[in-house]
Amino acid sequence: MTTRQKMPSPDSPFMPESADAFVDWRKAKLKDYPVNATALRVEVEDPRALSEAEQHRMLQVCRKTNMVIYASRLVGLADKQIPRRLGEQFGLVRLDSNLLADEDAVTSLQVVPEKSGRGYIPYSNRRLLWHTDGYYNPPERRVRAFVLHCVSPAAHGGENALLDPEIAYLRLRDENPEYIRALMAPDVMTIPANTEEGGENRPVQTGPVFSIDPATGSLHMRYTARTRSIEWKQDAVTQRAVKALEQLLAGGSPHVFHYRLAAGEGLLCNNVLHNRTEFADEVDKGITRLIYRARYYDRIRGTELNETSGAV
Ligand SMILES: [Fe+2]
Repeated sequence: MTTRQKMPSPDSPFMPESADAFVDWRKAKLKDYPVNATALRVEVEDPRALSEAEQHRMLQVCRKTNMVIYASRLVGLADKQIPRRLGEQFGLVRLDSNLLADEDAVTSLQVVPEKSGRGYIPYSNRRLLWHTDGYYNPPERRVRAFVLHCVSPAAHGGENALLDPEIAYLRLRDENPEYIRALMAPDVMTIPANTEEGGENRPVQTGPVFSIDPATGSLHMRYTARTRSIEWKQDAVTQRAVKALEQLLAGGSPHVFHYRLAAGEGLLCNNVLHNRTEFADEVDKGITRLIYRARYYDRIRGTELNETSGAV
C-alpha cells in the first residue's frame, strides 16, 4: 500500500475507494449541468464592487461548474484593480507571482516580442494547449483559482476552451477507476527543472495530476498537454490514463465550454482546464489583445466540497 499524505475523510467522493460517495456526488454533479458557455455568463455593473445579487449569482454558477464568466460595462478600462477587487469579493487574496508577472503580481497577457521570443508562449499570439495554471509550481504554491479579465480582445481569435476538472475526473473514473489511481500517484507527472537562459531557475517538480486538498476536501488538478518539458510515469496504466485524458479533451465533450472574452468580460474559476486558440492583433488599427491574469493560492470561497451541490 502506498503512503498517502494527510488524505481527508475516507468518505470523500474523490477517493478511488469510495464507491458510494462517488455515485452520490456524480449524480448531483451532472444534474442540471450547463450545456454551453452562455449559461456561465452573469451580467454585472462593476466587477470591482458587485451587488449582493450579482455576487450571489456568480457564486451559484461557480458552485456548479467551478467557473463563471462575468460581463461588465467596463469596456476598454485598463485597471488592474478590476481582477484584484473582484477576487477579493470571493475570498481570493493570496496572489501567486510568476517569473514574468508585473510587479504587482497581476500579469498583463499581451504580445510582447521580447518575452515570446524566449519561448514564453503566454506572451505570444500562438495557441495554448490544454493545461491548468501553475502545474509547475511546488505544492506550497498550488494555484487553486485564477481570474482573467479582458481589457480588449484581439482582432481575430483568442478563444478559450474550458473544462471543469471535476468533470474530467468524473469521465475518467467512469471510463476506468484505475486511471484515477494512476493519476493520483504522487510520482505520475514530472516537470523537469527550468534551465531557461537568463531566467530564474525552477527546480524539478514531481506530483499527482489529481489530488484532494486536505484543508477543504476539494479536488485539485495539475495538468499540461505539452509533450516537451514533461515526463509521465512510464507504466502501462499511466500511459493509458494520459491517453484517455487527451482524448477527452480533444473529443468535443458537451461539457467543454468555448468562449471568447469580449472587452469588459472576465473569467473567475477554480483553476479549470483551459486552452486558447491563436489570435491576431491589428496594431495599425489599434486593436491589440490585453488580458489581465491574477493567480491565487486560495479557492473561491463557498465552493468547497461541502458547500457545493455535489454534497449530500
Ligand atoms: Fe493558463
